[in-house]
Amino acid sequence: MSALLEVNGLTKRFGGITAVNNCSFEVQEGSITALIGPNGSGKTTAFNIITGYLKADSGSITFQGKQIAEPNPATLYRSGLSRTFQQARIFPEISVLENLIVASGYSWKGLFGARTTKADRVRAGEMLEEFKLSALADFYASELSYGQRKLLEFASVLMSSPKLVLLDEPTAGVNPVMIETMERHIRARHAAGVTFLIVEHDMQLVMRLCDPVIVLDHGAMIAKGTPSEVQSNSQVLDAYLGS
Ligand SMILES: Nc1ncnc2c1ncn2[C@@H]1O[C@H](COP(=O)(O)OP(=O)(O)O)[C@@H](O)[C@H]1O
Ligand SMILES: [Mg+2]
Repeated sequence: MSALLEVNGLTKRFGGITAVNNCSFEVQEGSITALIGPNGSGKTTAFNIITGYLKADSGSITFQGKQIAEPNPATLYRSGLSRTFQQARIFPEISVLENLIVASGYSWKGLFGARTTKADRVRAGEMLEEFKLSALADFYASELSYGQRKLLEFASVLMSSPKLVLLDEPTAGVNPVMIETMERHIRARHAAGVTFLIVEHDMQLVMRLCDPVIVLDHGAMIAKGTPSEVQSNSQVLDAYLGS
């Protein structure tokens, strides 16, 4: 395996808070890597920097062996790096099907014009089938449940045929059945060749799904290893106990 994503010495300060502190880690191609850590340890900020939603104060990011000089969300999305958000970002005022069509990479204008290709519409239909959302195709996305929105967001980011998907708390606040559904879809896409970096609070899910597990505390990596190695690491236990 080789590194699909390399994060080197990332630092991000918000006023007096150092949210990400000289943080370095790698995501190996073909892995489902977990990024865990106590609340406020910098996981989402790291995601925001990697995906171009925030500018780092220092550090660098390499994706597919190329350093990304100025991470830009749209450019990265088209080049195979996509992400979901802690609070699912979908378009509530258009249908479930249309959410998938716009996610294939065309502009808003494209949705209503000739630039929405038949191929995209077909693929959106297939995605609905895969995610068992076909019955909801014509519902406004705003009509979906919280868990269904997270599922739709996940399906949407797959429309770009990504190589690497960053999921920020994909199961937070969703019911146990939806957690299983989400896990099944992650496994299926992983089997089809997608690499994942997942921020997740459900430790049982992390333990059965992810390897390796990277642990952040106060914005820096304090441990990396297999789930069982990390679970028995005293520094990790201390971090979670708030010492
Ligand atoms: N936009 C922001 N402005 C100020 N402080 C922020 C901002 N975003 C995050 N922080 C702070 O940075 C730290 C890391 O936050 P975050 O990356 O959201 O952590 P996590 O996702 O691990 O819970 C926290 O102390 C948080 O309050
Ligand atoms: Mg977060």
